[in-house]
Amino acid sequence: MLGKATLDIPIPNLIMRATTATIHLEALRHNLQRVRALAPRSQVMAVVKADGYGHGLERVAQALSTADAFGVATLTDAERLRRAGHRHRIVLLSGFDEPRDLGLVQEWQIDCVLHHEYQLALLERTPLARPLALWVKIDTGMHRLGFAPEQARRVYQRLRALPQVGEIRWMTHFACADENDREQTEAQMQRFSMAIDGLPGERSLANSAALQAFPDSQGDWVRPGGMLYGLSTFARKMGCDLGLQPAMSLSTRLISVQMLAEGERVGYGGTYVCPHAMRIGIAAVGYGDGYPRHAPSGTPVKIDGQTAMVIGRVSMDLLAIDLSTAPSAGIGSEVLLWGPELPVERIAEMAGTIGYELVCGVTRRVQFAADQGSADIGVAA
Ligand SMILES: Cc1ncc(COP(=O)(O)O)c(C=O)c1O
Repeated sequence: MLGKATLDIPIPNLIMRATTATIHLEALRHNLQRVRALAPRSQVMAVVKADGYGHGLERVAQALSTADAFGVATLTDAERLRRAGHRHRIVLLSGFDEPRDLGLVQEWQIDCVLHHEYQLALLERTPLARPLALWVKIDTGMHRLGFAPEQARRVYQRLRALPQVGEIRWMTHFACADENDREQTEAQMQRFSMAIDGLPGERSLANSAALQAFPDSQGDWVRPGGMLYGLSTFARKMGCDLGLQPAMSLSTRLISVQMLAEGERVGYGGTYVCPHAMRIGIAAVGYGDGYPRHAPSGTPVKIDGQTAMVIGRVSMDLLAIDLSTAPSAGIGSEVLLWGPELPVERIAEMAGTIGYELVCGVTRRVQFAADQGSADIGVAA
């Protein structure tokens, strides 16, 4: 039976789980403009893989529709873009794996990255109705995908002999462009230019970090991903330090408030011990929504515009917050987990990861909302 004290508590206006990822469309457009300003002579392939880095593929592509091409990792994403009506060049960044893929690539008119001998052999024995546009990837030091630099000429000759091959472009990918080690990136640039010296075809090298830190690498096409979403890959730098605007806010509400005595322990494992009597709030978000379980006590959140901190272990659906710095917060108060006023890079650093992983990891039970916004969306200092 409910006691009188319980009945006296005002019932908040919570109809459904309030955990929401708000996507700031104007921020996406602003960040694309920033790419254009930094790389005015290059065409822009907006990398929208992993569901637009977790922001929602269709909504991101719509906001970035002035890009010159889209880069995706799966044929499913390429198909989604075509079904949404985008007529842009779409590049499948790992190319095709099997004969069936080639049929789909033709059907949806997708460009393919060609990175391995087995793909070349498959292409040689598969007649195609229309010539396929290829981006031949050279492995200049990342050692993930790509032909060795000394194979470039031989690959080119074999491709040019095939009626099923149309335009040929060249690309490589940097391993360390976001680090201070300039030597590695410069060595990769040199290997790339030597490998394809004199061969015709447009060149593409730069991801977000390279296009910002190595203007010489920009080439005919730049391939930004993270920076379009306002993310930084540079250590100790936030997107806002780079003139970028965060494109996602993750927020929720407090669904419980507790008064705890000194010495009481909070959450699974009781890892947080109250140093004094304190008021804590329980927010409706956890690792089941994509908030990182490894965010330790002390990770910041914002409540009513005040910075407060996570205490104890993050659980699947809930996390606890010390409300000492937000005395007016109560049940129903909005909690910002990351967004323009609280850079995702700060949360990522606390949790031992990067902002990219956090935004990509927001799960399907989170509601998504689009914010048309205005160009002067505030950013944290
Ligand atoms: C081949 C390729 N190009 C470009 C990008 C975009 O990188 P970033 O998001 O760091 O700009 C990626 C992402 O991993 C990639 O794999």
